[in-house]
Amino acid sequence: MSAVPLRTSVDRFYVTTPIYYVNDRPHIGHAYTTVVADVLARVHRLFGVPTFFLTGTDEHGQKVQQAARAAGISPKEQADRTVVRFQELWRTLAITNDDFIRTTEPRHTAAVQAVLRDLYERGEIYRAEYDGWYDVTSETFVAERDLHVPEGRTPADLPGIVRIRESNYFFRMSAYRDWLVDYIESHPDFIRPEFRRNETLGFLRTKELGDLCISRPKSRLEWGIELPFDRDYVCYVWFDALLNYITAIGHGRDEAMFARWWPASLQLVGKDILTTHTVYWPTMLKALGLPLPRTVFAHGWWLMGDTKMSKSLGNVVNPLDLIGRYGVDAFRYFLAAEMPFGQDASFSEAAFMRRYNSDLANDLGNLLSRLVTMTERYCGGRLPTASRTDDAAGAELAAAVDAARRASLDLVTTYRLDEAVGAAIKAVRAINRYLEVRAPWNQAKGADRGPLHSTLRTAAEALRVCATLLHPVMPGKMGELRAALGLSADPSPSDLADDPRIPSDASLHTSGPLFPRIEPPADVATSAPPKASSPASSAAASTAGVLTLDEFRRTDLRTARVLAAEPVPNTSKLLKLDIDLGSERRTIVAGIAQHYRPEELVGRTIVVVANLAAAKIRGIESRGMLLAASTEGRLQLVTVDGDVPPGSPIG
Ligand code: MSP
Repeated sequence: MSAVPLRTSVDRFYVTTPIYYVNDRPHIGHAYTTVVADVLARVHRLFGVPTFFLTGTDEHGQKVQQAARAAGISPKEQADRTVVRFQELWRTLAITNDDFIRTTEPRHTAAVQAVLRDLYERGEIYRAEYDGWYDVTSETFVAERDLHVPEGRTPADLPGIVRIRESNYFFRMSAYRDWLVDYIESHPDFIRPEFRRNETLGFLRTKELGDLCISRPKSRLEWGIELPFDRDYVCYVWFDALLNYITAIGHGRDEAMFARWWPASLQLVGKDILTTHTVYWPTMLKALGLPLPRTVFAHGWWLMGDTKMSKSLGNVVNPLDLIGRYGVDAFRYFLAAEMPFGQDASFSEAAFMRRYNSDLANDLGNLLSRLVTMTERYCGGRLPTASRTDDAAGAELAAAVDAARRASLDLVTTYRLDEAVGAAIKAVRAINRYLEVRAPWNQAKGADRGPLHSTLRTAAEALRVCATLLHPVMPGKMGELRAALGLSADPSPSDLADDPRIPSDASLHTSGPLFPRIEPPADVATSAPPKASSPASSAAASTAGVLTLDEFRRTDLRTARVLAAEPVPNTSKLLKLDIDLGSERRTIVAGIAQHYRPEELVGRTIVVVANLAAAKIRGIESRGMLLAASTEGRLQLVTVDGDVPPGSPIG
């Protein structure tokens, strides 16, 4: 029997992701947190732990109001249009969230107002005059000592810093400073990883913790939850947003549900929102008399090479591009395996392909094909019943499978996802090694079928455990793998047991390679997007000049509305267009000045290639290309039939 118990001491699991701003479409960073939360939720369910998984969208505040203004729509419309992009991506990525909260929903706004009223009535929120510096970008008030002002300059010279004098409402955060330091010190699991815990402690010890301004006058920002005790103000977006973690599970509305799930077991956040989650949030909870989440885990960032991904650099990875090329499961696998939990990771498509080919195509996919082929060749396609081998090769294999089980089980307390995935793939490699040592192709030549049967059975049962452990990461492909072994697609905890689970004489079968190898195109190591074919269509794609559907889908064609147009100085051919792409505003430069006057274009809906690499044209950064038909030297814009909102995908 395995030395690893198949139960955990955890009795329930409530996991949250940050709620994402609806000012822009989802990118790889959002996908990462949500996939990690999903894998952990699935692991807990696999171990039979009652689980609640929450994600959602942060729909108030300046960022959303600004994006809406740029698009010429209301903030609510902006939220309604963008939220579906998140929801669709989560569906595509097989995310199993139990709820999705939008902060514009009445269940949230009402609960936030109740909290505000309660804190105000108890004196935890008070009104005061603020005269000081304000950082427009991060929407926060900043003390002068925290601004790094160069010699001879004033704070007002810094970009985004303005002087503000206004009356506002403040939460007495400073009163909780000493309590919070004590709490963090006596609860080593509250902030993970360790170095992030030290970061928060350092911040609390070296900086003076002020009170938190939780209001914004409507004269400056309208888009927010109105303060129940002063209609001239809305609530600061972070104060509203953090409360989602309790409003979604019934705070002030469904006490039974709330008591069942709060405190959260794990709140996953990116490192940039550590302070809001480990300083603001715990003090808010303390003022409300609520317990703190067991763990706030801050993960690192996905970088492009070693630079930050940012819209203005044009290097943001769109998850849908990768999913289209490599499939949902390979994408989930890459995210889970590649980022050392807590650290930054560098994204490159070359690394993606390397991992895909080595771990998935070679180690895992080939193992299944070999096993099925040998079972067909030597045993008529049926997996023989036989006892496990107890030689050194068998013992080595059993140890690797045990280590993989242990790492998955440890996940429920350590959250070291990359390690658990690594241990499962190590066990897969151990099965391959086991087959090399046992050489069933030689055993098949002997008169005694016993050793051959034991080898095949031992390898198949070990693969069953690995497929079960990897199921939370790759639910689709591991479901297929399990079905190929004659098991139900969805695993149960007993599928992790040591004793045989694959039915006797199960018929093993596959319908082609689980992860077909991808041939890296010549340009993949460069920054240009590769012309890779998807695994499913690699054969068809080899026909020169013919696109597979997946290849075509890589071109992100979208409708856009022209907001402004003007000639580019010193050329007769180029126009500079400001366009609305639904979730963002962009500039493109188009060679149509001899065919259209600028005023003819404003207000029209055009079609653009939205994922074209940015290019500098006459000193202007052009991000995208419009489509036009060309007949005898005349260009005519490609447009769409009827009234279609900007940003609608075409294809
Ligand atoms: N709305 C706030 C969160 C409120 S939670 C009460 C917010 N939203 S966000 O959409 O800007 O970011 C959401 C998450 O995405 C953050 O955890 C952030 O760390 C993460 N990421 C943004 N870019 C990222 C990468 N390049 N890599 C990994 N995660 C990144 O902040």
